[in-house]
Amino acid sequence: MGEYEDIFRAATVDPEAFWLGAAEAIDWHVAPTRALDGSRPPFYRWFPDGELNVCHNALDRHVDAGRGEQAALVHDSPVTGTRRTYTYAELRDEVALFAGVLTGLGVGRGDRVVIYLPMVPEAAVAMLACARIGAVHSVVFGGFAPKELAVRIDDATPTVIVSASCGIEGKRVIEYKPLLDKAIELAEHKPSRCVILQRPQAEAELGENDVDWAGAMAAASPAGCVPVRATDPLYILYTSGTTGKPKGVVRDGGGYAVALRWSMPNVYDVDTGETIFTASDVGWVVGHSYIVYAPLLAGATTVLYEGKPVGTPDAGQFWRVVAEYGVKSLFTAPTAFRAIKKEDPKGERLGQYDLSTLRYLFLAGERLDPETHRWASDLLGIPVIDHWWQTETGWPIVANPAGIELLEIKPGSPTKPLPGWDVQVLDAAGQPAEPGTDGAIVVKLPMPPGSLPTLWNDDERFVASYMSAFEGYYLTGDGGRVDEDGYVYVMGRTDDVINVAGHRLSTGGMEEVLASHPDVAECAVIGVADPLKGQVPRGFVVLKAGVDRDEEQLRGELVQLVRDQVGAVASLRDVAVVPALPKTRSGKILRKTMRGIADGVDEPVPSTIDDASVLDALRAVLRRG
Ligand code: COA
Ligand code: AMP
Repeated sequence: MGEYEDIFRAATVDPEAFWLGAAEAIDWHVAPTRALDGSRPPFYRWFPDGELNVCHNALDRHVDAGRGEQAALVHDSPVTGTRRTYTYAELRDEVALFAGVLTGLGVGRGDRVVIYLPMVPEAAVAMLACARIGAVHSVVFGGFAPKELAVRIDDATPTVIVSASCGIEGKRVIEYKPLLDKAIELAEHKPSRCVILQRPQAEAELGENDVDWAGAMAAASPAGCVPVRATDPLYILYTSGTTGKPKGVVRDGGGYAVALRWSMPNVYDVDTGETIFTASDVGWVVGHSYIVYAPLLAGATTVLYEGKPVGTPDAGQFWRVVAEYGVKSLFTAPTAFRAIKKEDPKGERLGQYDLSTLRYLFLAGERLDPETHRWASDLLGIPVIDHWWQTETGWPIVANPAGIELLEIKPGSPTKPLPGWDVQVLDAAGQPAEPGTDGAIVVKLPMPPGSLPTLWNDDERFVASYMSAFEGYYLTGDGGRVDEDGYVYVMGRTDDVINVAGHRLSTGGMEEVLASHPDVAECAVIGVADPLKGQVPRGFVVLKAGVDRDEEQLRGELVQLVRDQVGAVASLRDVAVVPALPKTRSGKILRKTMRGIADGVDEPVPSTIDDASVLDALRAVLRRG
């Protein structure tokens, strides 16, 4: 029996003992005497009688243990030509000061703070400062448009918003302040203050409710760590669901800290004093967990990288970062490697750098296609580890636990469930699927610490979205199978969520925007295969009777509408005008059939189709386009 199997079994046989044991790696103000409170399923709570402060565990405890001079966070920004390393002591001081700024602005325990920042160290500082004073942060990805930000402001009702004058996308400077002002104008809830970080690439004019970051820091006194209940929310992270209204995934502090701390050495094989480089964005869960919280909880060094893997200045930036900071584990999305491969197919940039510290490449966020897996493995000559998880789960569900034991890699599989995750595949009737047969991937309740306890202010939607399809199971929204050896294969979403360049987006949300155009009678948005981004959205609209428009112009308007309402990150570039959408006799749009046609794979036509001739018209339009 391998070590992985032993550990997995220990967590299954006695989860109380396993997770209370894992909790010993965390500093508690009041140590938990119980691991799980399962008295109110499906609302499970971890470490119900524990009290802690996550910021203390991420920063102060390392300084107190004499590691104040070790590098905690490196900001590496090729787009601005700057780099800065913060030691644990420096980061603790900066965070304590910003915590003082927030307290001075009236932010208290349980209050929400929305953070809308590019990839600057201040993003991590603001997150940790909230954790320090028991406030709840909600980071919104910078690529979302004002309307998306406004929806999140109205749901989270923040006391304060933290933002910057601008972000940098390649060579373009994107002014954030007008986007923020527009979002506040659109939102019903108004924050009392906005703290604005001025960046030299484009300074913003501040209004009467705005506070300058630097000025506020200069005047502030540091604030200490406030112990909170383990079950108190640490953050809300909005993620795309099947409609335009995002889901506010709640993360508790105690369970999350325990799970992340466990995952660092056991999954990523990175521990105190070692360096991890997670190339993602703090606006996504990967950024929350493996740029900010997990590396710092482990006393490791984290690299916060501002830029793309390619372009500015070239496709060798990831290798440069690895060499410069002695990175042991690199974590990003497969799409980043496809982008590097496109620009540097032979990997010639690699030869310029010493990558001897690099032991693993971890990939997640979307399906890892076998060709990218092979290319990256051949190029780097190290294990390339696919692993699968979601915003909701906070940390990996299925992975190759490199720090415990490297299991055989089967391309196409993110490998096996981690301790605490009882992953199963069910058929439509809710019966266990045979090994190797596709079905809905579910997790038997309770899920381990770190996973979402509920949705912000919406227990009902939590139950309806995740807990109702199969009683006693969490519905992941992904379809796939488990093979005879227990390897999990994740084939794709079974709902209206798509993954574009590793970014999770709602096709339902985009449909709501297209449908709001005065000339559109009905519409559908589907994800189609894309060689770089994995998937991209493609829109189909049916015009209202009597509308006679120049199609090119109309398409331009529709693309712009989605860009304005959802954001550039939606990457919707293609909208086709079609005479009708294929539907079942009961009026349900046959999206799977449409996806097949758009991808050039002819799916069997469902017998429930209302009018099969619609498909021919659709094919003709797509062939023309
Ligand atoms: N702020 C403002 N705009 C943003 C943004 C941000 N934070 N992030 C992306 N955008 C914009 C981009 O500039 C682009 O705009 P454009 O249409 O005007 O060119 C648009 O949103 C689409 O962005 P993206 O899908 O990221 O495409 P890209 O061509 O800019 O970059 C990759 C493609 C593959 C290089 C990039 O997506 C990448 O590195 N992804 C992998 C890492 C990652 O972030 N994973 C997330 C989860 S692990
Ligand atoms: P997010 O919540 O943004 O992290 O997106 C989660 C979704 O991304 C999952 O539900 C999957 O659809 C997809 N995903 C993440 N990792 C993988 C993976 N390794 N293989 C296949 N799909 C993945």
